[in-house]
Amino acid sequence: MDAIVLLKDDHKTVEGLFKQFEKAGEKAHKEKQRIVEQIIQELTTHAYIEETIFYPAAREAVPETGDHVLESVEEHHVVVWMLSELKNLDPADERYDAKVTVLIENVRHHVEEEEQEWFPQVREGMGRKRLQELGEQMEKAKADAPSDPLAVMSARQ
Ligand SMILES: [Fe+2]
Ligand SMILES: [Fe+2]
Repeated sequence: MDAIVLLKDDHKTVEGLFKQFEKAGEKAHKEKQRIVEQIIQELTTHAYIEETIFYPAAREAVPETGDHVLESVEEHHVVVWMLSELKNLDPADERYDAKVTVLIENVRHHVEEEEQEWFPQVREGMGRKRLQELGEQMEKAKADAPSDPLAVMSARQ
């Protein structure tokens, strides 16, 4: 599996969960909590494979996009801390929906930058074979991803 295709598939999965959350009723606390648990798991795994495999490889292959990688890690940092807060927040809390909404805004912005600006440059600089290798590595690495968002590298950066 091509690395960029894999990452875009993850983005789509997460966007699907965001839409489910947005459609859920104001008082559907249980349902929203269930969706947020999936969002936490998907985004933690995704951030983990990007940070341990894709970001370093892309930075090496396309050094001129190094600033983009650094900015992306800062964005991950904010996202994983928000995920860890949501893990411990009661879905009936008045701040719950607001926090999820800001999380969604952050992730959508991040995904758009990755997909529109950065991935095309990485694809050009890396070539198909390398992207296939990285895709396979990331597919396998998903099994090693932590469940705690704060165990992802960017949480401590
Ligand atoms: Fe990312
Ligand atoms: Fe991503």
